[in-house]
This record gives sequence, C-alpha cells and structure tokens, in this order.
Amino acid sequence: MITQQTIERVFEAARVEEVIGEFVQLKKSGSSFKGLSPFTDERTPSFMVSPVKQIWKDFSTGKGGNAVSFLMEHEHYTYPEAIKWLAKKYNIEIEETEQSDEQKQQMNERESMFLVSKFAKDYFHDVLMNSQNGRAIGLSYFKERGFREEVIEKFDLGYCKDEWDNFTNAALDKGYDLKYLKSTGLTIVKEGGPKIRKFDRFKGRVMFPIHSMSGRILGFGGRILTNDKKAAKYLNSPESDIYHKSKILYGIYHAKKEIAKQDNCFLVEGYTDVISFYQSGVENVVASSGTALTSDQIRLVNRLTKNITVLFDGDAAGIRASIRGIDLILEQGMNVKVVSFPEGEDPDSFAKSHSSAELKQYLEDKAQDFIEFKVSLLMKDAANDPVKKAGLIRDIVTSISKIPDGIQREVYVQECARIMDISERVLFSELAQLISKGLSKSNSKKSSSSQDPNQPPPEYFQEQAGMMPVKGGGKRHQKIDQLNILEKEIIRILLLYGNEVVDFVNWVDGVDEKGRPVMEKEEYQNTVSNELYLNLQEDEIEFTDEVFKLTYYELIHQLNQEEKISIDQLIMHENQSISNLVTNILMDEEKYSLSDWERKEVFVTETNKILPKLVSDAVLNLRRVLIEEKIKEILKAVQDKNADLDLEEITNYTGLKTRLFEKLNRVI
Ligand code: CTP
Ligand code: MN
Repeated sequence: MITQQTIERVFEAARVEEVIGEFVQLKKSGSSFKGLSPFTDERTPSFMVSPVKQIWKDFSTGKGGNAVSFLMEHEHYTYPEAIKWLAKKYNIEIEETEQSDEQKQQMNERESMFLVSKFAKDYFHDVLMNSQNGRAIGLSYFKERGFREEVIEKFDLGYCKDEWDNFTNAALDKGYDLKYLKSTGLTIVKEGGPKIRKFDRFKGRVMFPIHSMSGRILGFGGRILTNDKKAAKYLNSPESDIYHKSKILYGIYHAKKEIAKQDNCFLVEGYTDVISFYQSGVENVVASSGTALTSDQIRLVNRLTKNITVLFDGDAAGIRASIRGIDLILEQGMNVKVVSFPEGEDPDSFAKSHSSAELKQYLEDKAQDFIEFKVSLLMKDAANDPVKKAGLIRDIVTSISKIPDGIQREVYVQECARIMDISERVLFSELAQLISKGLSKSNSKKSSSSQDPNQPPPEYFQEQAGMMPVKGGGKRHQKIDQLNILEKEIIRILLLYGNEVVDFVNWVDGVDEKGRPVMEKEEYQNTVSNELYLNLQEDEIEFTDEVFKLTYYELIHQLNQEEKISIDQLIMHENQSISNLVTNILMDEEKYSLSDWERKEVFVTETNKILPKLVSDAVLNLRRVLIEEKIKEILKAVQDKNADLDLEEITNYTGLKTRLFEKLNRVI
C-alpha cells in the first residue's frame, strides 16, 4: 500500500487545473477555469475547475471531484493508479507501507507474472512484425483476414513460432524465472523422466494479448492457423492469480473511452469481432470471449455506461442460448438492446463485407429493446400452444422482475401485454409475486450485497447535483425522495457551517406563574456541528443513504479528534464516494454564490440569524419525515393484515408530528 504521507504529499503538490489541463482545454473565467466537458460532446462549456478549492465539476453529467477523481473518471484509473500517475507527474517518490513477508511475496509473484506477460506480448509482437517466419505465416494470416497494420499494432497482436520452446528460451535468456512462465501458463513444464521438458503453450498460433482496464497484460488467446478439426481453434491462458476469465472483457482497455463517450457498449463474442469493429470505426466494443456473460464482466461495463447492446451471431440456437445471460445485465439496472446478424454472419464477417457507414447504420436500425426482442422471439415458438405460452409469460416476467426501477418495469409490462395479447393484470400479478420473493431474498443478505459504498453508481452524482441523467439512461426515471434531500441538507450544513458558533433557541416544557403548562424559551451557544450531532444522536437517527452515512461518520470522527471539521481531509479522502460528495456540494455552492454574489453578501452579515433556523429546520424536517414514514409503515401493516391497528401507537406518532409542526412554525 502507498503510505499516507505519500498520498498527502501528492495531494499537496498536485494542482487540479494543471492535471485537468493535460486533458481538457481550460480558459480562465473569474476565479475559476471553464472548458468543454470531456465526458460529453457538448458545444458550450459547462465544465468548471476551481483552483482555489482544488476541485472540478462537470455540470453536464453531474460528475465532480478532485485531481485524483478526475483521473479515475477520465482515465478509468484505480485510486492507487491515479496517485502513482500524479506522483510521477510531480516527481514524488512513492513510499509503500511495510508489508508482511507473505503479502510482499504474493505481490511480488503477481508483479512477476505481469512482467513476464508483458515481455511475452512484446516478444510475440516482435516475432510477428520483424521475423521472416512471423511475417510469412502470422502477419500474412492477419492480412488475409483483412486486418490492417494499424489495428495489428493497436491490439499488440503477435505470433508464437511453430517451434517447441522458441519463446520459453527467449524468456529464460532474458532472465525471467521459469516459475512465472509456468504460473502464467505461457510455458508448459513436463516433469518426470530424466529431464524437465519445457514447451511453449501457444506454439504455432497467432496471439491476442488480453489487456486489463488499465492496460496491463493479463493473459492471451492464441488461434490456430490450420483447419485441423481435432485441435482447439483457440487456446487461452489458464486461470491464474492474474487471469480470471470470468472478470475479463476482451477489448475493454481500447474501448473504455469510446464507451463512456458514446454512452453505449457493444458486446460481441470473439476476439476477431472486436478487432473488425474497431477497424470499421466502431470502437466501443468488447467481447465476452465465448463464455456465458458474468456479473463481474457486466460490472466492468457498468462503470462506463448504463447501456449495453448485445450482438448475436446469425444462428438461432446461439441466440436462444445467450438470452438467459441477459437477465444478469438487467439486474444491474442497465438498459439492454440487441442486434442480430443475418443467418451465417457474425459481427466480424459483417463488418468485413460492409462499409463503416453501412455497419453503423445497420447497428442503429436493427437495435431492438431486449425484452421486446425476447417476447417476439419466444412468441414465434408459442403462438398456438397455450401451455408454452404460460411458460413464456413466466419467463418474460422473470426478466422484467430483474429491472430495479419500478417505473421502467411498469412500462415493460404494458408493452409486453400488448405484444403477447394478454391482460396487463395477469402480468402484474405474476410480477408482484416474483418481486416479493426476490425482496425477501435480497433483504436477508442486505448487509453484504447492498451496493458497494466505494462505488456509487454514476446516477448517484447526477442525483446529488439535482440533475436527471443526460443520455440513454434518461428513460429511467430517478426518484429523489424527501429523506435523501434532507439527509443531504444536513451534510451540506455540516460542511459549510459546521465550525460556526451561533446562538440557538430551544423550547422546553415549563409552567407559568399560575402553574399552567407553557413552552419556555431557552437560549444557548453552540457550534453548528455539535448542535446537529447532539440532535441526531438524541433521536438515534441513522442516515439511510450509504454515502451520506459514511461521510457523516467521517465528520463526527473529525469532531471527536480535532473538535472541528476539516474539509480538506474529506476532499482527499481515499473513499472516492466521500470526496465526490463533498466536492459536489462545495462546487454547487460555488456556482450558486458566483452567480448570486448579492445574496452571498447579505448572507455573510446575517449568518448568525439564519443559521439557527437552518439547523433546526433540517433536524425537525428530518424527524417529521421519519415519523411520517413510520406512520405509513404501521398503516400498511394493518392494511396487509399483518398487524392489528394499534390506535395508541398511531395517536402517539401523530401527536409527535403535530408537535413537530408547532416547533417548526415557532422557529420560523
Ligand atoms: N473461443 C475459445 N475457445 C475455442 C473457441 C472459441 O476460447 N475453442 C472463444 C474465443 O474468445 C473466440 C470466441 O470464443 O473469439 C468466439 O468463438 P468463435 O465465434 O468460434 O470464434 P471467432 O472469434 O469468430 O474466431 P474466428 O473468426 O477466427 O473463427
Ligand atoms: Mn469469426
């Protein structure tokens, strides 16, 4: 791990405007910089960088953060990769924390495997391009298939000579350890007998190196050049510490920028499909490499876009086999479209026999919504068979039930009812059953499977910025609930005014001189952060939003340690969801106060008058919403006949609510 000191040094040295300036043309505008969003194709600049606060915000997508999060968004680096990039730019030496011998060894092993894989990639490529043998056999094979030299270079394609140990010997000569040649599967070692024998796994094959998202070589696919039916057409690296077939998408490294930009990812089956598409100018393409799609693979794409278009080869059996896997994509809340190719064609052959414009046009014209596609495909089978049709309904509804968004589900139910010519009611009741089953399952594993707090989905930030998703995802309606808004308001107040000391007023039960109950006014001074903390603690209020909760704990931790809030620490927090939230709030504030300086001036003079109200409103409103939810919950249970109506409980809660309203009014 990189030491905290190194991280701090990097943050100290890094200037967000310099870092972003390497990727985006920035123009000075007041105290900030402005530029065109690197995440969309906009014409008028809505991308802002604040050198004062050292943060950026893209108002067209709602993304924002610090220098590190920019690199993570734009270059798709991991956190450590971003830190390393900055350290290099600013000539900072990276210190790593002491690791246990075991950790060191494991890390070194992986590192060694990466190194030997990179060597292999370079070696195979060099053989392909520069050896007589490689050019005559490997390169001419690729050329025959219509691959131009620039994509061969781009994808680092190679050739492994048809000799038993040509590559292995070259690697050993260069000082690479046989151990890693073996663990990466590049060399097959046969023991037993008088002598150890070593073979190149990929002997006589053309090589497709497989890159990680950040461009490291994880493994290889090697294609045989003959039509020998007995030998496997493709050989792939075996599973290892660096190569996990189920977590890899071929082409992701070369496609990531374009996927994010086009806000769509084409998913094909094979290595050659990817390369042909790329060569035809469709660069947002990845391959599952002939295996059933996995959730891990989908997650890779989900980091870049919400939209996947799955391309099917033109054989019917294949299509029926693959549509199962697509429910997995729906489960991750992504929009799925499908395109199928004419009988006997795959994406590679289609791209080869059509111009770039024709290919793009075809993809656009033929893209069909997945569920509609599935319904019409299966309806053909079931047309006159009521038993089959019943099975089909269940099948379709299963797909629909995977979609996390309720409104989207409803739209599909209506659409499917129309296509299948059955009543919506039948579909809805089927759907309700499936969802309640699914819910009880997911509730029981909520803590472990609920969304990863380090990886909020992109629309999270759009919601934070009060924006609807811009492209593609726009169909999906985002629900911004009251609770979320109020929780965010509390975080906002803590960040902006947490350290201010102000006069608070409290109303307590008392009696007047005649002994009648009255509310008495009590005045006291406190910091905004303490006041909020005490109030929330008193009611044992927990934030429902994961990121707000994390940020809140972090703030409370600071208060306990240093008795004040330090925004800088949060901005450079290792957890990107925290630093993103904080920078988003600050940037929104900056934009607001820039455009409305008058209001700001008024505000400065009256802070002390406004703040107590801001704080108590936030807390009281949060309580009110929580109570309303509680009342709703009770009534719902009664309605569902899970509980008898407890009048006393309801009366208590309604009473509480009324008193809250009184308080709210009084403070106003
Ligand atoms: N595949 C594999 N092992 C095999 C066959 C296929 O790993 N024995 C994987 C490869 O990743 C391949 C993908 O499945 O790219 C799709 O298989 P296929 O359509 O048969 O190959 P193509 O990619 O079309 O290859 P080519 O055009 O060279 O025949
Ligand atoms: Mn093919």
